[in-house]
Amino acid sequence: MAVKMIIDTDPGIDDAMAIFYAAAAPDIELLGLTTVFGNVTTAIATRNALRLLEAAGLDLPVAHGAETPLVLPPFTPSAQVHGDEGFGDIPAAMPTGHPIDEDAADFLCRTAREHKGELVLCPIGPLTNIALALQRDPEFAQNVARIVIMGGSLNEGGNITPHAEANIYHDPHAADVVFASDAKVVMVGLDVTHRILCSTSDFTAIAAQAPELGGMLQQMSVFYLKFYESVGKFDGCSLHDPAAVIACTHPELFETRPTPLQVSCAGETSGATLAAPNSGRAPVDVCTAVQADAVKSLFINRLSLLP
Ligand code: BDR
Ligand code: CA
Repeated sequence: MAVKMIIDTDPGIDDAMAIFYAAAAPDIELLGLTTVFGNVTTAIATRNALRLLEAAGLDLPVAHGAETPLVLPPFTPSAQVHGDEGFGDIPAAMPTGHPIDEDAADFLCRTAREHKGELVLCPIGPLTNIALALQRDPEFAQNVARIVIMGGSLNEGGNITPHAEANIYHDPHAADVVFASDAKVVMVGLDVTHRILCSTSDFTAIAAQAPELGGMLQQMSVFYLKFYESVGKFDGCSLHDPAAVIACTHPELFETRPTPLQVSCAGETSGATLAAPNSGRAPVDVCTAVQADAVKSLFINRLSLLP
């Protein structure tokens, strides 16, 4: 049976890859997207989310989410990694559709209630909407089947600072609310996403099989790969966000270590995800190893099924 899923997203180039992967995957029933700031502002994230669904021919709800972190002041997204508009050099374009009237946290709470025990939530941006949903509905943690997040790092160090991964760094307080909750949480962090790399030739192959949507990803990947090269990484870009979506349906490809976590919320280590064995918190299933070739093959083979 297909996994019922909502992706909470800040699209973003690897977010687009994850969303198109979900559109192609026969074992995923996508119920909608919720948006958040991070790679871009929330306004641009909502526009981009609608645009991706329209490109994929999916008529699904998009719920506009939080525009600022829970506690930290608002920030201007850096255009360095994903470009000014989120999709590298692809120019902005207006979708025809609109977000639903409910905001992201309300949509998450309602959908989790309606599909009690079945909804898999896959946040691939900062965790603000998820924290708000946990705060608004005391039953949300139990209603949701699991929360599989792309973010954090146990032993790998950071990617936005030496200590922090970007999604956690942009709203550490929200991440701490999620790790302190009783929800079943899986963390797909840099410990595994740094092992799953896609190169120029991989994207060329995807575009050859799926000229329309694969072609769009290939075009975006040029900007993304250039960023990686600018920081001395020449083997390809990490499939951060697709890895989390794949972990929702293929947990057997990931090794996990149950670890209670807390998040540093201040100072030089802000955004670091730290093991907290004596915190009394429920353990998070932290992904510590991955069958990277198998994840990458799924990604390439399934995207190749798209138009
Ligand atoms: C995460 O940060 C964003 O730049 C990506 O979209 C991904 O969700 C990787 O650290
Ligand atoms: Ca993202």
